[in-house]
Amino acid sequence: MTSPRMNMDWDSAYRLDTPPPWSIGKPQPELAALIDQGKVRSDVLDAGCGHAALSLALAAQGYTVVGLDASATAVAAATATAAEKGLTSATFAQADITAFDGYDGRFATVLDSGLLHSLPPEKRADYVRAISRAAAPGASLYILAFAADAFGDALPDDRPGPRGLTEAELREVVSTDWEIDDVHAAKLYGNDSAFTAAPDLALERDNEGHVLMSGFLLSAHKPA
Ligand SMILES: C[S@@+](CC[C@H](N)C(=O)[O-])C[C@H]1O[C@@H](n2cnc3c(N)ncnc32)[C@H](O)[C@@H]1O
Repeated sequence: MTSPRMNMDWDSAYRLDTPPPWSIGKPQPELAALIDQGKVRSDVLDAGCGHAALSLALAAQGYTVVGLDASATAVAAATATAAEKGLTSATFAQADITAFDGYDGRFATVLDSGLLHSLPPEKRADYVRAISRAAAPGASLYILAFAADAFGDALPDDRPGPRGLTEAELREVVSTDWEIDDVHAAKLYGNDSAFTAAPDLALERDNEGHVLMSGFLLSAHKPA
């Protein structure tokens, strides 16, 4: 059945004066840690890159990275920031990540910073297949996604927004095309200022203006 939460107008979120809740101006800490641990290899696909702090951080360290996103506004902003910073190894394009082509077998690492939980559930399998097609044999995949209970009951079903996953759902959707190496509990950071309209949400906070929400970090690889 089609979820009523699928009607998210992503581009409009990027046309507002203030950054969207997920654009924290730096890579999600869970993914930054993977970079620090040397687990990311070029070429990298940043799936659903948004403002692309992750791609830009990777390019600044010498990685070749492609960011794809459905939002033309986000892609334009990411392209402009890369140009401003002289980061020529990061390129961006508008694409539907559930049905893109042109990159067959190219990427050694696929990174998903909050994309999977943003897709309508019926598009998840198409997405997993599309990124597998774009990945090289043996490629690594890392997905950072909200847990199903990340917001408790605070998001009613008729509201556009993320659809978190249970660990079992996450494993089931990814394992069709990838070999799963690990799934563990993880935190996703958001801008606290974006949550003032939802005072009932009992969320963990840091002292740097972020809310911390529950999720999972999945690690997988494409069979060689
Ligand atoms: C929660 S945001 C995360 C953005 C970015 N990865 C980050 O960490 O800031 C989800 C992103 O997925 C993008 N998106 C949603 N559906 C998409 C699709 N079918 N194809 C490509 N991008 C999509 C949205 O435009 C948005 O930028």
